[in-house]
Amino acid sequence: MQLVTAVVQPAKAEAVTQALQDLGVRGMTVSSVSGMGRQRGHTETYRGARIQTDTVDKVRIEVLAHDEDVDGIIGAIVAAARTGDIGDGKIWAVPLTDVVRVRTGERGPDAID
Ligand SMILES: Nc1ncnc2c1ncn2[C@@H]1O[C@H](COP(=O)(O)OP(=O)(O)OP(=O)(O)O)[C@@H](O)[C@H]1O
Ligand SMILES: [Mg+2]
Repeated sequence: MQLVTAVVQPAKAEAVTQALQDLGVRGMTVSSVSGMGRQRGHTETYRGARIQTDTVDKVRIEVLAHDEDVDGIIGAIVAAARTGDIGDGKIWAVPLTDVVRVRTGERGPDAID
């Protein structure tokens, strides 16, 4: 089991969540976040001075996934989120030790979907 986290442009969030549903993903968490990548936010000009803002608005999408589904999920997110511009986003996957469905008490892979 893995947790796949994607941070994408807000304008692409709906395309990503739709692509995941098309793939058969049934549960996900969607949050409004702010962050920075290697450009460290974005640069604005104020009274002739270049001002570096700290963060840019993004949307974080988290999916609990079976190991065998991770590559497909990552591929679908990339395809839906990419514009080719800086700030398109980042995706990472980490191993999970446990998942619990609160209502039934199911644990592990049975609790994912
Ligand atoms: N190293 C990191 N650690 C944690 N979060 C990150 C990291 N890099 C990027 N993020 C998150 O992903 C968002 C999008 O990052 P972004 O697409 O700008 O990555 P990048 O590495 O700068 O790539 P690009 O050069 O295409 O802009 C950031 O706003 C931040 O929320
Ligand atoms: Mg960046």
